[in-house]
Amino acid sequence: MADILDVPASRRPTERREAHTGRIILISLVAALGGFLFGFDTSVINGTVGALEIQFAASSWALGLAVSSALIGSAIGAFCAGSVADRFGRTRTMIMASDLFIMSALGSGLAFSLWDLSFWRLVGGLGVGAASVVAPAYIAESAPAHLRGRLASLQQLAIVVGIFVALLGDFVIARDAGSASNPGWFGITAWRWMFFSGLPPALLYGVGALFIPESPRYLVAKGREQEALRVLREIEGDTAPSKILEIRRSVRQDRTPHLADLKGGRFGFLPIVWIGIVLAMLQQFVGINIIFYYSSVLWQAVGFSEQSSLLITVITSVTNILTTLVAIACVDRVGRKPLLIIGSVGMALTLGLLAYLFGTAPQDATGNPLLQGTASTAALIAANLYVVFFGFSWGPVVWVLLGEMFPNRIRALALSIAAMAQWVANFVVSATFPSLKALGLGWAYGLYAAAAVFSIFFAVRFIKETKGRELESM
Ligand code: GLC
Repeated sequence: MADILDVPASRRPTERREAHTGRIILISLVAALGGFLFGFDTSVINGTVGALEIQFAASSWALGLAVSSALIGSAIGAFCAGSVADRFGRTRTMIMASDLFIMSALGSGLAFSLWDLSFWRLVGGLGVGAASVVAPAYIAESAPAHLRGRLASLQQLAIVVGIFVALLGDFVIARDAGSASNPGWFGITAWRWMFFSGLPPALLYGVGALFIPESPRYLVAKGREQEALRVLREIEGDTAPSKILEIRRSVRQDRTPHLADLKGGRFGFLPIVWIGIVLAMLQQFVGINIIFYYSSVLWQAVGFSEQSSLLITVITSVTNILTTLVAIACVDRVGRKPLLIIGSVGMALTLGLLAYLFGTAPQDATGNPLLQGTASTAALIAANLYVVFFGFSWGPVVWVLLGEMFPNRIRALALSIAAMAQWVANFVVSATFPSLKALGLGWAYGLYAAAAVFSIFFAVRFIKETKGRELESM
């Protein structure tokens, strides 16, 4: 009778590997759902802003608070997530994040004032920040080295799909109701549905996290080696026992890591922690979220109608999804560093062109640049090309590197400091854009271009290739 053992020996390892691969992809997808909620929660507010202004007769600073409170929450959430993940485990942190997402979706949808809304957005931000730390850490710690870049890039894919779904959802809900401030389904105002629509993915994330195994590296750090062995067998197969020994050597089993473990060197933190911080902040200083958070302002300012601006934003987010697929295909073959460098050069050129186009265009009565004919087409192409260059490089690769670059014993903690810095940088860029825009869009893009030029130097000088290397050797 045919038996699996009858299969020629040379074929067995591959088959086993495929089975393990299927399992690890599924596990990584659940963790990446946190990325979906990250993208969704940060973008869903876009479609509600106009309606909130009317409903709560909001001043622009109060509206700004409602928009930015999520970013502040994310910075706090990221900062706390490292310690929480080291103490309670990676999967439990995901469950806590999913609870925060659920509360935020409900609370924001039911909000009775802008203060109330800002509070619930902050709660959601805590979840976003936590998810931005735990997903890369968990995936890097669970994935086999040869697939780690691809699996960790799933998080970025989930983020950009989350952005797309939120924008599309806002569009569909507003279209059905006629406007975000009109009554929608069951007579409930449309903007409330926009927030409520975050509930199903939040629930799915929490339920998924109940079923995935704990990170083997976390388990070894906690001295739970039997469990770690079981998880590693599922993922890596026969090499699991020797892996446990290597991991044991690279973690501290005697106590939970704390902030003092990140200290060292002349500048406070260990050099590797600084590299993580600058890497994470540069990902924001190149201005990517201006495209996503302010795109309609941006495109309307240069003469596109509201409808076309919305369409451009949707096209841009699809571009971002497609280019992330390019990164998934390349990151474990080409490596992290070449992708970063190519991306930086492309971003510097396209941002430089945008700075030039906006900076030299004639202005209308309100000081907005008036791009016409070829100049407006060129701006549109440059902006989308910029998203292409970001999309296969700094978007995914920064999250991949942050998950894998730190040594096992400080990973979650160091990652949470770098991710917090990233959220602060995101806040600074978003908060300063309106003033920079008032100064001239050319200046705004000039600054982002300068950051991109610096990022070339930084990637060449400070980033070490991690492709295919075991985490234990970092
Ligand atoms: C990265 C950034 C995030 C941005 C996204 C857009 O994930 O961290 O802030 O919105 O890329 O592609």
